[in-house]
Amino acid sequence: MSSYDIKDIQLAEGGRRRIEWAEREMPVLRSIRERFAKEKPLKGLRLSCCLHVTTETANLMRTLHEGGADIVLTASNPLSTQDDVAAALVNQFEIPVFAIKGEDKVTYFKHIRAALEHKPHLTQDDGADLVSSLFFIEMGRFEKLEPSLAAWAKTLSEAERKEMLKNVIGGTEETTTGVIRLKAMEKDGVLKFPVIAVNDALTKHMFDNRYGTGQSTIDGIVRATNVLLAGKTFVVAGYGWCGRGLALRARGMGSHVIVTEVDPLKALEAAMDGFQVMPMLEAAKVGDIFCTVTGDINVIDGHDFEVMKDGAIVANSGHFNVEINIPALEKMSVGEPNLVRPFVEQYTTKDGRKINILGQGRLINLASAEGHPASVMDMSFANQALSAEYMVKHADKLEKKVYSVPEEIDSEIARLKLESMGVKIDVLTDEQLHYLNSWEEGT
Ligand SMILES: NC(=O)c1ccc[n+]([C@@H]2O[C@H](COP(=O)([O-])OP(=O)(O)OC[C@H]3O[C@@H](n4cnc5c(N)ncnc54)[C@H](O)[C@@H]3O)[C@@H](O)[C@H]2O)c1
Repeated sequence: MSSYDIKDIQLAEGGRRRIEWAEREMPVLRSIRERFAKEKPLKGLRLSCCLHVTTETANLMRTLHEGGADIVLTASNPLSTQDDVAAALVNQFEIPVFAIKGEDKVTYFKHIRAALEHKPHLTQDDGADLVSSLFFIEMGRFEKLEPSLAAWAKTLSEAERKEMLKNVIGGTEETTTGVIRLKAMEKDGVLKFPVIAVNDALTKHMFDNRYGTGQSTIDGIVRATNVLLAGKTFVVAGYGWCGRGLALRARGMGSHVIVTEVDPLKALEAAMDGFQVMPMLEAAKVGDIFCTVTGDINVIDGHDFEVMKDGAIVANSGHFNVEINIPALEKMSVGEPNLVRPFVEQYTTKDGRKINILGQGRLINLASAEGHPASVMDMSFANQALSAEYMVKHADKLEKKVYSVPEEIDSEIARLKLESMGVKIDVLTDEQLHYLNSWEEGT
């Protein structure tokens, strides 16, 4: 396989400018990069990263590279790659990238193969496609692999397949869906090395999932459609970290927001936050714009499409494109969908309604926009960099489990972020410390 696979190396200069623009908003990661450049905590380690190839990820790659790591980067979604960034990483920062925006499934997994052939000591995933491929290959469960990856894996001897896993000391995982998959692997006893759940750090999900997804999902929907959100009925499926942020921002744009949920506590929270809460089948009748952010499957299903209004806009910002049952919509439609704008596929139902699916149901903030703004990814990727360093130092003491990011890393990132924002806070006095740690003083 060649040493990289990207769309066009000529795009590098534009990519470099955008990477540097993002860097200005990433002071925490920059301070880690400066320390990594001196201390080289990842020296001699091969790192395979399967992440969204964006300007912010490029700054994470630079940090790990300065830390001494030998990196290969592949996309964690076929539609999220920024081709100019991929070109700049190859051309200006000497980091091999295997990612092309719009790549088909075969190419996506050909690129994952490149990450596997790098024989990583450490993995970094966003959605767990890299580690799950690694485990299926090692276990010889070829039927679970994409056919072309399976064909390659079958050419390896059993010893070669086992060998692929031998070097790996651990991994990190970026998103909710990946963490759910990894915890299921741990439960089934098939997790083969320790993994740090970066998503579970407070400085990740409280900010990235909420404010990052909230803003960038609105950005993606608006860029794809240019619709006015004010006065529209906007349906948010899921009121977790991402859903809260999205509902908040949609309301801020003047939409009437409806939330759908399956968890009574989250539904209650949404209702108390002032949103209308109802089942999807009811919401489907009245919504103008729909967006799923659940990590679940078929959240918008065939029966929901049956009752949707003519002209409904349907998007997803959860990790995989299974949240919207597009095959069901295809069955209900006549002819092929029309690409009426980039990222807008219009289906015509047998009763003549038009339903617009954005970005083929893939996470819309990365498909038609640029993903999260850099200042929020600053914290997420500071967690990635420090978790990689932590893994190198502590892997020999860790079991084959999913671990949380250590509390001290989380607090240190919050402290550095506040400092970079010029925000000062109070410090507990000795008297307060004593009071908070005692039980004797009461009424
Ligand atoms: N677009 C992005 O850039 C981005 C960023 C972070 C996370 N994510 C992804 O977004 C998804 C959600 O992440 P999160 O951190 O908000 O997770 P979360 O666990 O905090 O929230 C998910 C919510 O969805 C609800 N839910 C599940 N099934 C549902 C259904 N059928 N109908 C309605 N609600 C349902 C759950 O009860 C839960 O409250 C995940 O797939 C995650 O990987 C995307």
